[in-house]
Amino acid sequence: MEPRKKSDRRPQSLFLSCLAFALCVHLRTVSAGECPADGRTWVPFGDRCYHFVHGEEDKIKSYTFEAALSHCIGFGLLTIHSAEENDFVMRYSPEVWKGGDVNIWLGIEYDIDDDVMKWSNNRSVTFTNWEYSPYPADIPRGDICVALHSISGRWENVSCQDDVENGVVCETAQKAEQPRPKSSAMVSALVILSVVAVVGVSAVIWFLHQKHSFGSTMITAFEYHPPFRVLDSDQSCLVEAEETDTVP
Ligand SMILES: *[C@@H]1O[C@H](CO)[C@@H](O)[C@H](O)[C@H]1NC(C)=O
Ligand SMILES: *[C@@H]1O[C@H](CO)[C@@H](O)[C@H](O)[C@H]1NC(C)=O
Repeated sequence: MEPRKKSDRRPQSLFLSCLAFALCVHLRTVSAGECPADGRTWVPFGDRCYHFVHGEEDKIKSYTFEAALSHCIGFGLLTIHSAEENDFVMRYSPEVWKGGDVNIWLGIEYDIDDDVMKWSNNRSVTFTNWEYSPYPADIPRGDICVALHSISGRWENVSCQDDVENGVVCETAQKAEQPRPKSSAMVSALVILSVVAVVGVSAVIWFLHQKHSFGSTMITAFEYHPPFRVLDSDQSCLVEAEETDTVP
């Protein structure tokens, strides 16, 4: 019985793993790039990856600006270049940090030399989403950092030096992988063809196998009954014999 069971499963699992593999290959060729595999959770959005730093049980953990920078060393702090990106951070924050109301450090600083605000990744500041309140004059220009409020989505000027603690999101560009847009259609076609081929072959194998194992169950079912019947009739013979013995 055992060997039959084993071979019974083989075609289906083979088929499933082939399908999974084909899908994986397909997805990898379709997706634009990769997020860092450093054991932390990186969320892809657009062409970038985001890591929302949290404490135990998805609670917000806040850091000073200095601590935030060192937390995202090798990457960068959150930068926002569009309304979509701003919305993404607002939407995703409550999923990571249960219990809302978070200010998040932005990777933006006031450049005194050029008298402008600059993103730490050197991209120019095109999109802004300032708080309605006017510029607070008590912060020296060289000490202006910006925090994004996760519920309103508005940005606020705060001091970089104070012991202000805010939430941290690290950001990095997705690693461009396989920049071959022309061949990707070809690869997709090949993948789909091979999936179809695998499905076809597996279906045939499975069908043949089902037919075969159906036949063998019929045979085993047949073979198993006679011994019981023989035993039954033997026992009834014995009972009869006993009865006849006691009668005289
Ligand atoms: C931004 O530019 C400065 C100099 O202008 C450079 O030192 C720094 O490495 C650049 N940063 C990035 C992330 O490219
Ligand atoms: C924050 O500071 C920048 C640079 O000085 C300024 O352009 C902006 O209006 C300020 N925003 C608020 C809400 O005060």
